[in-house]
Amino acid sequence: MQSQPLFDQLRAASPQISVGMLTADWMALGAELKLIETAGVRLLHFDVMDGNFCPMMTFGAPVVAGIKTPLLKDVHLMIDEPLTKLESHVAAGADIVTVQAESTRHIHRVFQALGKMTNFNDPKRGILRGLALNPGTRLESVEPLLDQLELVLLLAVNPGWGGQKFIPSTSARLARLKQMVGDKVLIGVDGGITRDNIAEVAQMGADIIVTGSAVFDGKSPLENARFMVDAIRK
Ligand code: DX5
Ligand code: ZN
Repeated sequence: MQSQPLFDQLRAASPQISVGMLTADWMALGAELKLIETAGVRLLHFDVMDGNFCPMMTFGAPVVAGIKTPLLKDVHLMIDEPLTKLESHVAAGADIVTVQAESTRHIHRVFQALGKMTNFNDPKRGILRGLALNPGTRLESVEPLLDQLELVLLLAVNPGWGGQKFIPSTSARLARLKQMVGDKVLIGVDGGITRDNIAEVAQMGADIIVTGSAVFDGKSPLENARFMVDAIRK
C-alpha cells in the first residue's frame, strides 16, 4: 500500500457510494450525472465487461474516456487478461482501476504494472489500485497482494448484469475481510445494493458501496441517490 492523496481522500470520505452507470439514460447522460452530483455523489462506477470473463459485453476505454465528468472515475475491469488494457483505461482518466482476481494467472504482474502508472487527470492524485473478488473466490487471495493495492472490492453478485440479488454470504465475507485487513486497505462491496440493505452494508464497514440499478431505476435518480447518500451518513 502506498500512501497517496486519493487514498486519503477516500478514507476520509468513508463510507460513500459509487454509482454504476449501466442503467442510466445514456441519451441524457450529462443531465443524469449532474443529478447524482447534486445528491453529493463523488464516484462514478464503470462496469467494463468483455463478454468473455463474464457473459455480457458493455464498453471499453474509449467510452470511459468520452465521458467528461468531474466525478472520480471508478473503473471495474471484468475482462480477461487485463494487463494489456490497463494503460488505455488510465489514459481514459481512471482514478480507480479494479481488476478481478480470477481474470489472469498473473495478477501480481498486473499490480506491478499498475503501481508504475500515473493518474492522467492529476499526476499528484495517485491511482487507487483495486482487487475484486467474485463471490466464490477465497478471501486469502488478497494476502500476497496487500502491499500493492489500496482497495478490495467484494462482489455480492456474480458479475454480468445489474439488478441481481445480493448474495447473503457476502455479509460474513465482509466481516472476515475486515478482520484480515483492518484499515490497511479500503473495502468495497458491489452488486445487489438497494435502499433496503445499504445502511447495513455501510455499518458492516464497507468504505465504497457500488449501487447501479437502485439509483438509475428509470424514474428518480436524484431522489434515489439522495436516499443512498443519507442512508450511509455516519
Ligand atoms: C456486477 C457489476 C456491478 C453491477 C451493479 O456485474 O460489477 O457493478 O452492475 O449493479 P446493481 O447495483 O444493479 O447490482
Ligand atoms: Zn462493478
